[in-house]
Amino acid sequence: MKALIAAGGTGSRLRPLTHTAAKQLIPVANKPIIYYGLEDIVKVGIKEVGIIVGKETADAITREIGDGKRWGINIEYIHQEKPLGLAHCVKVARYFLKDDPFIMYLGDNILASDLTLFTKEFEKSDANSLILLAEVDNPCEFGVVELDDKNQIKRLVEKPKVPPTNFALVGVYLFDENVFKAINGIKPSARNELEITDAIQWLIDNDYKVLPYKVKGWWKDTGKVEDVLEANRFVLSSLKSRKETGVRVDGNSRIEGKIELRQGVEIKNSVIRGPVTIGDKSVIVDSYIGPYTSIYYGCEIRNSEIENSIIMENTRIKDISYRLDNCLIGKEVEISKNELKPHAMNLILGDRSKISLS
Ligand code: TTP
Repeated sequence: MKALIAAGGTGSRLRPLTHTAAKQLIPVANKPIIYYGLEDIVKVGIKEVGIIVGKETADAITREIGDGKRWGINIEYIHQEKPLGLAHCVKVARYFLKDDPFIMYLGDNILASDLTLFTKEFEKSDANSLILLAEVDNPCEFGVVELDDKNQIKRLVEKPKVPPTNFALVGVYLFDENVFKAINGIKPSARNELEITDAIQWLIDNDYKVLPYKVKGWWKDTGKVEDVLEANRFVLSSLKSRKETGVRVDGNSRIEGKIELRQGVEIKNSVIRGPVTIGDKSVIVDSYIGPYTSIYYGCEIRNSEIENSIIMENTRIKDISYRLDNCLIGKEVEISKNELKPHAMNLILGDRSKISLS
């Protein structure tokens, strides 16, 4: 079995971060999102992994992930000229997938389940596809399945106004080579994309077997800021305390709950209340870092309070009198207090930045 990870796309819902970075590399609990799927694929024992990259994501993703040797796998980067849909990803990957069965994983999804459950189920069945379903509270925002009385799939409906069930389609699918017939049989949708849901519907309509599998564990599509922060909270909720080499915590600091401190972290006169993860060489001075916060490497936080947030690498936050809560802050950002008169705010914000001041 091979694997295909979709990591192209435009990430428009995560702007401005995606103007300069690939959303699949946003760190959740200090690990780039795409690593969650990739590591799950490696655990299944799959050795041939194709990663779809687009114009906006190719450089950053290839640089970050490399050739796969560190996981003992081969990675083939497959360039998709334009984000023309998930079924289009499969189509452009045909030369790599050949006629092998494969697992397709959306590079911005995190699924807290052992993929072996699904690959084994698929391999022992005579199904042409296996799709994963997760129960959600807001089915109107997802692709949803309609099931018959034998729990088999009747129909897939994209973002239904009146959802037939609250089972959403998870961004992990298994296919055999018949999916290529399906993709050749479908037309681009109203948003001009070749939709994977249309390809699956084509398989159902043409009497191919599509097995539904209800996922019990947690799943998140991190397409929007709230989803990224929720994923961060979820992953941190099972964090284990860990202190790597070179960590220095002074006697005036208090550490409570589960805290991960990576190499060379320095904490002075601060309170850290977990779950919190702090990346290599970050420095926290005279500050409070509250629950569900991930601070990536090389950051410096001085005289400030932060909780329930993601702070990306090499960011500096200094002397902020308000508590920062529910923030997703990019790399190399500088936030500091204006000491000069007039006491006005000086903002240099990139396109489509979002700040809310109180
Ligand atoms: P989406 O979140 O559906 O699309 P997007 O990345 O363009 O985001 P937005 O809607 O905010 O503009 O994509 C899911 C995953 O699949 C994500 O990792 C990007 C990837 N993808 C491709 O690789 N090629 C494509 O043509 C599309 C549509 C998505």
